[in-house]
Amino acid sequence: MNVKKTVEELDPYVPGRSIYEIATKYSLKPEDIIKLGSNENPLGPSPKAVKATQESAKNMHRYPESDLSDLIHQIALYSQVRPEQVIVGGDGADEILDVLGKTFMDPGDEFIVPLPSYMYYEFTLTIHGAKPVFARWDVEGNRLDVASVLEALTPRTRIIFLCTPNNPTGGLISKKDIKTVVEGTDALVVVDEAYFEFSGAENVDLLEDYHNLFILRTFSKVLGLAGMRIGYGLSSPEIIEYMHRVKPVFSLTKLSYVAALETLKDSEYIEKSRELSVDSRELLYHGLQKFSQLRVFKSYANYLLVDVRETGMDSGQITEELMKRGVIVRNCSSFRGLDDYWIRVSVGTLEEDKKFLEILKGIIK
Ligand SMILES: Cc1ncc(COP(=O)(O)O)c(C=O)c1O
Repeated sequence: MNVKKTVEELDPYVPGRSIYEIATKYSLKPEDIIKLGSNENPLGPSPKAVKATQESAKNMHRYPESDLSDLIHQIALYSQVRPEQVIVGGDGADEILDVLGKTFMDPGDEFIVPLPSYMYYEFTLTIHGAKPVFARWDVEGNRLDVASVLEALTPRTRIIFLCTPNNPTGGLISKKDIKTVVEGTDALVVVDEAYFEFSGAENVDLLEDYHNLFILRTFSKVLGLAGMRIGYGLSSPEIIEYMHRVKPVFSLTKLSYVAALETLKDSEYIEKSRELSVDSRELLYHGLQKFSQLRVFKSYANYLLVDVRETGMDSGQITEELMKRGVIVRNCSSFRGLDDYWIRVSVGTLEEDKKFLEILKGIIK
């Protein structure tokens, strides 16, 4: 079969493990599994969003609205931009990444990713024939190596990805460093703020001054809607207009639409989610620090990167031992730029965190 060369050569994306998969594999009850693998919201969804989707389900025989202006308006309010600066994606922020590829990438064009970072950039854009050029994230200092990004620029660079807080390391990129990159190129700088609510830092204010800036965000984290697949982007009206030309018209389902709208109106829920995740992150950070065999990195997101090499196990062995006991964490061996000795632990409820730390004690002698 003659498929596209880029598809033939594509390395599959490795997602986090699911509760159902692990329950089946290890004969466990799904409700007993502690999932700390995919950076989700341990509080669950906004009850208002659940109620609104139940109502909306009666109309699932109808196509969704093609006019998303109510939601775009709410996102603009939440993000403090104008509605014409907003685009919404129906397969999460991942769809926005694909639309960026369709809008900006001709075969042979390049994009820059500092490693390690979110693997989906490479996965999505290579399908459009684009070539990744890797820069460096300094893991030990948990900071972006800005010089390596500037050195990676070529006349074919179309997009530069800056993930802040960075997945999987949890470190932040300073506004000064973002400005240095944006000012050093005409290419589009995509600042991925999927986790910004946990960090207390954001870069929307830069949109006024820089027209080659794009901010990527999601409803999957603090907004508790990972299963509904909603993401959004913020940029100049010109870039947003180009992207709307190629974005699938009906990708946001009716149910996702109402869930997103109701969640944004539920500011009490959003604040509670943020607080729980930050408390959980700090509990896990201090709990993990007590293990002399582990090295845990300070994080501004809802997960922690942990170096497990001193345990005598690699990340595959330690994640396997945890899964047998009903705990899912992320084995980071599929992250380019990390070796086989890193795991990423997402926040749970405080009770789940404590159980996880107890289980870990039984594994690390
Ligand atoms: C840094 C980063 N960007 C984007 C995404 C995609 O989020 P979504 O669930 O909206 O597709 C994720 C998901 O984990 C992420 O970690």
